[in-house]
Amino acid sequence: MDYVNPRSKPLPVLEAEATEAPDPDRRAFISEAARLAALTVLVSACSGGLGSVTGPGSSTLSKAITVKLSDYPGLANPVSAVRINGTNIPLALVNEGNGQYTALSLICTHQGGTVQWNGQIFICPVHGAEFASDGHWIGGQPTTNLVSFPTSYDAAANTVTISP
Ligand code: FES
Repeated sequence: MDYVNPRSKPLPVLEAEATEAPDPDRRAFISEAARLAALTVLVSACSGGLGSVTGPGSSTLSKAITVKLSDYPGLANPVSAVRINGTNIPLALVNEGNGQYTALSLICTHQGGTVQWNGQIFICPVHGAEFASDGHWIGGQPTTNLVSFPTSYDAAANTVTISP
C-alpha cells in the first residue's frame, strides 16, 4: 500500500467551495446593494451637504412693491444693500448712490442658493459665485448675472418702487 500524505489531499469542504460557481441571485443582490449605496451617498451630498438650494428659475417677482427708504436705515449710505421684507422671492435693494437703486433677486443663477451681501459684493455660500452690487457675475463659480428688476426712485416721497 502506498503512503498518502494526508496534507496533500484537499479537504472535501474546501474543494467543494473552490469549485462552486457563484450564485447568480446572490451576485445580483450584491451588485444592486452596491448601486443603491452609491446612489444614497450621491443624493445626500446633493441635498444636505451643500446648503440650501432652491433651484434657479424661481426669480419671478409676483407684483410691484414700493419701499419706504425710511424703513431701511441700512440703505442710507452708498454702496449698501438690504433685504426687502414682504416679497415672494428673496429680494435685495442696493443703494448705488446719486439716486440710483438696483433691485436684485437673491436667488443664485447657478443652482439656486441664496446669495449674501458682504458689504461690497454678493456671494453665494453654496459654490462661491460672486456678483457685483449691480448683480453682474464677477467671479467664483461661473454662472449668469443675478436677476434684476426695474426701479423708480421718488426723491420727494423718499421711496423706491420695484417692478416685476
Ligand atoms: S448655487 Fe452654485 S454658486 Fe450659487
